[in-house]
Amino acid sequence: MQSQPIGIFDSGVGGTSVFKEIHQLLPNESIIYLADSFNAPYGNKSAEEIKNLSEKNTRFLISMNCKLIVVACNTATTNAIGYLRSNFNLPFIGIEPAIKPAALQSKTGSIGILATKGTLASDLFHKTTNLYSNNIKVVEQTGTGIVELIESGKLYSEDMRNLLKTYLQPMILANIDHLVLGCTHYPYLIPLFKELLPENVKIIDSGEAVARQTKNILIQNQLLNTGEEQPNISFYTNTNPAVLKQILENKYSVAYKDF
Ligand code: SIN
Repeated sequence: MQSQPIGIFDSGVGGTSVFKEIHQLLPNESIIYLADSFNAPYGNKSAEEIKNLSEKNTRFLISMNCKLIVVACNTATTNAIGYLRSNFNLPFIGIEPAIKPAALQSKTGSIGILATKGTLASDLFHKTTNLYSNNIKVVEQTGTGIVELIESGKLYSEDMRNLLKTYLQPMILANIDHLVLGCTHYPYLIPLFKELLPENVKIIDSGEAVARQTKNILIQNQLLNTGEEQPNISFYTNTNPAVLKQILENKYSVAYKDF
């Protein structure tokens, strides 16, 4: 059981930002990463569609013998993790926007959150925001078009720069001192965020916290791989593997799979 892989899925290539943190913290663990890029972006879909896609991805990872599943997609977590936990008998780790640390550390009393429409509209997001943002101004911004550009390999394009400028402007005017990245695709844009935001704005991404939580849950469930054998790392996508390979800097092979 302990040598079984960890499964990670995302609507596309963005969850690799979480994969990298998990692989760094847990180098002994085998990992299967599933990029559902054919159905990306999830952010504009209904909660029902997101649940169905998350269930499809989960069934695939279970068929590959995974011992735990990381839902490396904020939109899928906020819309489907409760459903997955009640319907499947293995641990799930989700990604929630890090509103809490941003609100606690804010000195200007103003924080920004950039996420998909699906995440910002979800009950889980509202609950978290209401719980932690007392006396804090939260500037919410939907990142329409960002995931599409990343999925088509246009990470540092002029189109991306223009979109980000538009989305960050209201946050800069509101004097935010923390920007919460509410989508696992966005950490790949950190160099651009740094360039476009005032120096005092701290960028908060949940990847490291998710890796720590994954380790804790593996330990609690006695699932941590304590063996010495080389782990297997596999990537699957249901579209052209080129963008996923590029985002992984050609360090891993990527298989096409119609799942
Ligand atoms: C999307 O597929 O729209 C974005 C994925 C995410 O929310 O992390």
